[in-house]
Amino acid sequence: MLNFHIITLFPELIAAYCSTSIIGRGVKAGKISVHTYNPRDFCSDSYRKVDDTPYGGGPGMVLKPEPFYAAVESIARPADSPILLMTPQGKRFSYKEANSLARNSDITILCGHYEGFDERIRSLASHEFSIGDYVLTGGELAALVVIDSVGRLIPGVVGKHVSVKNESFVDGLLEGPQYTKPVEFRGMSVPEIVRNGNHKAIAQWRRQEALKRTFSIRPDLLAEAELDEVDEAYILSLKKQIES
Ligand code: ADE
Repeated sequence: MLNFHIITLFPELIAAYCSTSIIGRGVKAGKISVHTYNPRDFCSDSYRKVDDTPYGGGPGMVLKPEPFYAAVESIARPADSPILLMTPQGKRFSYKEANSLARNSDITILCGHYEGFDERIRSLASHEFSIGDYVLTGGELAALVVIDSVGRLIPGVVGKHVSVKNESFVDGLLEGPQYTKPVEFRGMSVPEIVRNGNHKAIAQWRRQEALKRTFSIRPDLLAEAELDEVDEAYILSLKKQIES
């Protein structure tokens, strides 16, 4: 069981996604839980003001620290459980991070907002993550990316757990092509090799297709992938094909 605690000014965004599809099913099955906390509910003033003008001047408003601290302090969570802050300045979030986060019982996620937040909110976080080199209007989509990618690794959330084993990034490679019926579709046919029932040949073909795809689209991943001598030889042959 993994409990997500999401601090957000827009709890309805989180609730809508997390009640739907695979993650919704995981919640209903009791494998994960998703709780939201709105900083607005933790304001001490009657206007429930979560932002204020920036010191030093400038346009826009800045999220105030007090409601965010009060929201975090209200959460029933193990004291050493991770608190993630989603911002474009964070470390790039990846499959590796998702995997190590999946070992926790509780994960708290702070969603920022386009206006920016008081620097002291950063001190609440144990990790700061970005989901890519672009700026979102708020951290909610980024928090949902974490909930989805970590949640699906919890046993029982994705239907067949074996399907998590063969996917992209598990062995550091992009996943190769997959096919189902019909054999012929609009002039595109299923490769003969996956139809002939030779499991050893199919496994070799799948491995080569994964290597080929990774080599052409994400060559940077090859440096850290788990490759044996046969893989290395195949990559060398791909390089030679390009050169010739
Ligand atoms: N908040 C705004 N932009 C973001 C990004 N790229 N990643 C994570 N959180 C964000």
